[in-house]
Amino acid sequence: MAEAKKLFIKTYGCQMNVYDSERMAEALGTSGYVTTERAEDADMILLNTCHIREKAAEKVYSELGRFKPLKAANPALKIGVAGCVAQAEGEEIMRRQPLVDLVVGPQTYHRLPAMEAAVQNGARAVDTDFPEEDKFDHLPRGPRATRGPTAFLTVQEGCDKFCAFCVVPYTRGAEVSRPVDRIMTEARDLVARGVREITLLGQNVNAYHGQGDGGDWTLARLIRALAKVDGLERIRFTTSHPNDMEDDLIAAHGDEPKLMPYLHLPVQSGSDRILKAMNRKHTAESYLRLIERLRAARPDLLLSGDFIVGFPGETEADFEDTMALVRAVHYGQAYSFKYSARPGTPAAERETVADDVATDRLHRLQSLLTEQQRATQTGMVGRELSVLFEKPGRLPGQLIGKSEYLHAVHVRAPADQIGQIARVRVTESVTNSLAAEVI
Ligand code: SAH
Ligand code: SF4
Ligand code: F3S
Repeated sequence: MAEAKKLFIKTYGCQMNVYDSERMAEALGTSGYVTTERAEDADMILLNTCHIREKAAEKVYSELGRFKPLKAANPALKIGVAGCVAQAEGEEIMRRQPLVDLVVGPQTYHRLPAMEAAVQNGARAVDTDFPEEDKFDHLPRGPRATRGPTAFLTVQEGCDKFCAFCVVPYTRGAEVSRPVDRIMTEARDLVARGVREITLLGQNVNAYHGQGDGGDWTLARLIRALAKVDGLERIRFTTSHPNDMEDDLIAAHGDEPKLMPYLHLPVQSGSDRILKAMNRKHTAESYLRLIERLRAARPDLLLSGDFIVGFPGETEADFEDTMALVRAVHYGQAYSFKYSARPGTPAAERETVADDVATDRLHRLQSLLTEQQRATQTGMVGRELSVLFEKPGRLPGQLIGKSEYLHAVHVRAPADQIGQIARVRVTESVTNSLAAEVI
């Protein structure tokens, strides 16, 4: 047998890209590739890219530049760009960076084996279609390796919301939900390979409406069906839009024990004026009412969010509304970003907020969010939690796992406990994690 070719994949952006990178590695596995952790050893390098903010997209070009010496040392090395920058800038990447051999978008990577064969014959290949066929039905599958205790599973892709700042509707295309039976089969397969926790993924995961028994299923119904899979202990989902948070999904947070008490629910701004300009189609008040209903269903629900500061037209008063909303919600965790104008989006045409003003607001928001995160973590000290052990810790005899609330937890426990769930008591809150002991 010929020696396996080596594939190095570097992943940027959201969890969906992490999932896609795994699928791409599997697909190229059928062309004789095994993955490597070292770019220097690779026969093919794939960058799975993100276009969400300017910085993310620019990183791709600087990273590609760094591969020049590798290609000089090994002319047979093939370099590919996948993901959302590939989708947005396909032909331009080819023009700007002659060492790129292939460009493949997020909806066409099932065609990678054929593209790989073409580039081996000296071609340069670009495929950024939005094809009729579902890539997941056409993905070549490799051998079923065992895997760690947690996994992502994409159930929905694309977005029809068109927030004025966001590239996702353009890079990922229209909202599509995968059929229930495929998801169930994939979930059972993951569990058979050692997975205990599945995070259902979608750009708008709670808008899920896949076909199942009796027609359209909601995300809540899918979660309840997954909860019946023996061996699957924990279910999470991300990312949700406030307007798609239906009653049955709120209820599931209260009565489905396998659904973890952590919810990422981006709001972006606390100012109704800015929310309107963002085309978010909800108000600060409707978001707060929704949080109340979620907390009524599950009082200990830990909330996470995304915020954009310095959106075109944001005044100091608008920003103060965001700070007030954050104080009202009290987030356990959150991400905040300075607005970045993205080509092709409606907001890109508007006048921007001065950079130093936006930077100052970002710092103020982040210090409030950090304070809330610390307070949430400190509040865990002394509490009993359950932890799913994922991997060895930095110290000998120590494991790292995640609590129900998605906090990283360090615990003294034997290595054979990886993949097990233990009851622990939290002893200490450190910067970004908790320490605990098995009860
Ligand atoms: N589908 C998810 C978000 C995907 S993008 C949702 O609707 O919530 C992840 C986050 O990046 C967004 O929630 C937003 O806070 C941020 N983001 C998106 N576009 C941005 C831009 N142009 N500038 C700055 N941040 C942006
Ligand atoms: Fe982007 Fe808005 Fe769609 Fe989220 S809901 S992916 S922020 S357009
Ligand atoms: Fe980035 Fe594309 Fe995800 S733009 S955030 S990788 S959907």
